[in-house]
Amino acid sequence: MNVAVLASGGGTNLQALLDAAAAGALGPARIVAVGSNVPGCEALARARRAGVATFALDHRNFAERAGFDQALVAELRGHDTELIVLAGFMRLLTPVFLDAFPQQVINIHPSLLPAFPGTNGPGQAFAHGVRYAGCTVHFVDAGTDSGPIIAQAVVPVLAGDDVESLRQRILREEHRLLPVVVRAVVEARVVVEGRRVRVTGATAETTHLRSLD
Ligand code: GRF
Repeated sequence: MNVAVLASGGGTNLQALLDAAAAGALGPARIVAVGSNVPGCEALARARRAGVATFALDHRNFAERAGFDQALVAELRGHDTELIVLAGFMRLLTPVFLDAFPQQVINIHPSLLPAFPGTNGPGQAFAHGVRYAGCTVHFVDAGTDSGPIIAQAVVPVLAGDDVESLRQRILREEHRLLPVVVRAVVEARVVVEGRRVRVTGATAETTHLRSLD
């Protein structure tokens, strides 16, 4: 199954996917393209180093979101994309995009949704004083980080933490969780039942990752 990844920044989650693919841990998934709205970002460099096709569409060149989304759809269709993974992609997608790929777009978010959607999930969690934080992989809908939840991983907030140490602890879990979920999706083991998502098969239990150590 052809998978594309969209990213805007450092691309460490993309790297986790590339490494998993190289290790044969993504099942039938093939990462066929990496796209970005930030032409010089490190995520694109990581993709090039891995020999994966890249494209950049600078959103500032588009007067409206819909036009940007239309161009994204065209790029992704050119790669016969069947699953799109948002890994630090910092643009909201409109129905122009989402209707083109129904239930084929997933996102990783650095909080235990529905708490702390939007930007800076770790900072929001830290400021709120929660004792447990984490990350979520979910299907993307037209809202902000509001689609059906596929998997979550939990980390503790420790006494000596600052926002950065918490962000790093969450990020490490993101790197474990995202490849597991991508594999489950491409193996057709993820079933959406309204708001609830059922994951079956060997790795089902790993979609509730615990990292309390
Ligand atoms: C991650 O925390 C991801 O959950 C969020 O943006 C960050 C991207 O990090 N959406 P990276 O580019 O994968 O290193």
